[in-house]
Amino acid sequence: MALLLSRVAAVSLLVVVLTTTSTSPAVAQFPARARPTRSGYLNITSTNSLYFAFYEATNPVTTPAASAPLLVWLQGGPGCSSLIGNFAELGPYLLLNSTSLTRNRNRWNRRFGLIFLDNPLGAGFSAPNSDGDIPTDEPTIAAHLLAALQSFMALDPTFRARPLFLTGESYAGKYIPAAASHILDANTKLPADQRVNLQGVAIGNGMTHPVAQVTVHADQAYFAGLINARQKAAVEAMQNRTVSLVDASKWGEARRERNRIISFLKNVTGVATSFNYARERPYPTRPLRDFLNTDEAKAALGVRGDVVWARCSKAVSAALAEDIMKSAKGDVEAVLARRNGTRVLLFQGVFDLHSGPASVAAWVRELAWPGLGAFLAAERAVWRLGGGQLAGYVQRSGVLANAVIVGAGHMAPGDNGPAAQAMIEGWVLQTGPFAGSGAQQSTVPDCDS
Ligand SMILES: *[C@@H]1O[C@H](CO)[C@@H](O)[C@H](O)[C@H]1NC(C)=O
Ligand SMILES: *[C@@H]1O[C@H](CO)[C@@H](O)[C@H](O)[C@H]1NC(C)=O
Ligand SMILES: *[C@@H]1O[C@H](CO)[C@@H](O)[C@H](O)[C@H]1NC(C)=O
Ligand SMILES: *[C@@H]1O[C@H](CO)[C@@H](O)[C@H](O)[C@H]1NC(C)=O
Ligand SMILES: *[C@@H]1O[C@H](CO)[C@@H](O)[C@H](O)[C@H]1NC(C)=O
Repeated sequence: MALLLSRVAAVSLLVVVLTTTSTSPAVAQFPARARPTRSGYLNITSTNSLYFAFYEATNPVTTPAASAPLLVWLQGGPGCSSLIGNFAELGPYLLLNSTSLTRNRNRWNRRFGLIFLDNPLGAGFSAPNSDGDIPTDEPTIAAHLLAALQSFMALDPTFRARPLFLTGESYAGKYIPAAASHILDANTKLPADQRVNLQGVAIGNGMTHPVAQVTVHADQAYFAGLINARQKAAVEAMQNRTVSLVDASKWGEARRERNRIISFLKNVTGVATSFNYARERPYPTRPLRDFLNTDEAKAALGVRGDVVWARCSKAVSAALAEDIMKSAKGDVEAVLARRNGTRVLLFQGVFDLHSGPASVAAWVRELAWPGLGAFLAAERAVWRLGGGQLAGYVQRSGVLANAVIVGAGHMAPGDNGPAAQAMIEGWVLQTGPFAGSGAQQSTVPDCDS
């Protein structure tokens, strides 16, 4: 689940060639136009804060940009920095090599304001006051995310009214439902001027209900032609052991057994990366680390100079060891149960050996939600981009939509930028394959009082 740097060669409107100096590693010049609109730290407790970088919409559907919807992006891991998403997947500028940024035609802040949050506390540039402050469970993470959003809203009086969507990938498949159900619940108790205008959640290649998701690794790899029947039986035995450990609430052991599955699959298939079995080489990781640890990048991003950036925090991963195999399905059900139109989009790149389409389908069919029958019976439509190229498939019913993205793996927005951008814009704006979804959507935050 650790998220690695994705290929950035796909799109380059404009290559910004940056000067290097005699120091090593080469110093990246951070062009002014690639700087966040706002960035810094959002208080979550009296002693801790989360790092954020906000980019205003560059081409909103209606002006001013200050009324465009807002997207929050959360990386997975647990413990990986959302700046991976920013510079390697969907941000306004992607890192080409350790010194050069290139404008991303498929940026998610074309139509929407986009907020990258380093979450949980301890990830990326969100250094904790003390390691003991790193959350160990989803309720704490959810409370921190709500607090961070409230701090963000306090920065500008126009932010709060803008429709807000929580998005992310991988382990964010747990943070997002946990935060969404917490926010919707809090909205029923908060005065109108303190509610969060949450309108939907979008989860890419998510880990949400591990006990169901762990049961499809063998089939997926076998039917993709990557393992033989004997290897398939070995994976099934590991899957069964993982399920038994989850059923016995042996969370740490269950996590280790699941890791063994991924490790076994990597060993026997020889894939360059289990995040995208169609790739012939691993995703580069070092350029982003070098780039983000330069004084210039830190200054441009509004980061405290003493914080060392790591892709994924071992401390966060360790703190959440007992959380990994626990389920967030109940939180998705809580979100779906609210009849106020909070929309749910699940999307998956097809080449992911961790949590691809079959993995997500395995937990979706276990949802306790009255709309499930209609969703499962809904047609899966072929989805093409404007130029006619195949983007994937969309199945939806009511507030739930599932999009499968072709030519992509775990980090789908980085692997297939045009499809991911078309998807997020269509889903938020309810156009194209997403036209008419979420008919019950309200334009004001929930209120039970
Ligand atoms: C955030 O917390 C810091 C440190 O506790 C404090 O100095 C600052 O005033 C807080 N900012 C806001 C906007 O509350
Ligand atoms: C990075 O890419 C730019 C643009 O292609 C190139 O000019 C530059 O030499 C590269 N820098 C490194 C360190 O590879
Ligand atoms: C795994 O569990 C399934 C369902 O209980 C069972 O049908 C299958 O035989 C088991 N496979 C192995 C290899 O243990
Ligand atoms: C995968 O290969 C590595 C290195 O040979 C080995 O240490 C590890 O135990 C293997 N994992 C599994 C699950 O076979
Ligand atoms: C939806 O919002 C209305 C008021 O806006 C509130 O009365 C109702 O309880 C909410 N429903 C749910 C399921 O949250």
